[in-house]
Amino acid sequence: MSTQDSKFFNIFSLVLGILIVITILLFAFARGVGRNTQLAHVESDPKYVADVETNLTSGRVAIAGQDNSALAIAPAAGAVVATLAMPTSGVEVYEQVCGACHLNGIGGAPKSDDRAAWAPRIAQGTATLYKHAIEGYTGKSGVMPAKGGRADLSDELVQAAVDHMVSKAQ
Ligand code: HEC
Repeated sequence: MSTQDSKFFNIFSLVLGILIVITILLFAFARGVGRNTQLAHVESDPKYVADVETNLTSGRVAIAGQDNSALAIAPAAGAVVATLAMPTSGVEVYEQVCGACHLNGIGGAPKSDDRAAWAPRIAQGTATLYKHAIEGYTGKSGVMPAKGGRADLSDELVQAAVDHMVSKAQ
């Protein structure tokens, strides 16, 4: 290697070294600036905070003797919770529940407007009809499920539905 070459090589190495140092300094500087500005933004972002909250709930433990109501699992916002609308009258109960069988006589159910089928049933008395509708009943023509399968209905609503059905069959 000629002296000129080695001189060039030395200077070149020096410049390279300086550039590397500058790069490292810039990197450290950017990190420092980022920590003070960006991170603060991220940590105050409501979505980030909510995510952290959600992740933390899975790690929470109920403690005996303390208020653990915060641990109750709430359905995620916007989640479709499958609940059946609660009917408010006998007519609505009939339309939403009983009609499924009684409208067209499905499964041997007496059709709501079939007077001949209803006459002997009505003759049993309202109390029996109520009882059979609320508690369920298996007769000659089929199975009448308790409350038409909607166990969450109140007895009063089922009775109102029976009244409605009986009035249609009279
Ligand atoms: C899954 C089908 C089905 C649904 C839903 C249903 N029923 Fe019935 N129901 C029947 C069948 C079948 C019978 C006939 C049972 C028999 O006499 O063999 C019956 C019979 C009855 C009777 C006559 C009972 C008797 O003693 O003769 C009443 C009253 C009645 N249902 C009321 C209701 C009411 C009120 C609802 C809604 C809350 C309802 N049903 C929903 C199938 C159904």
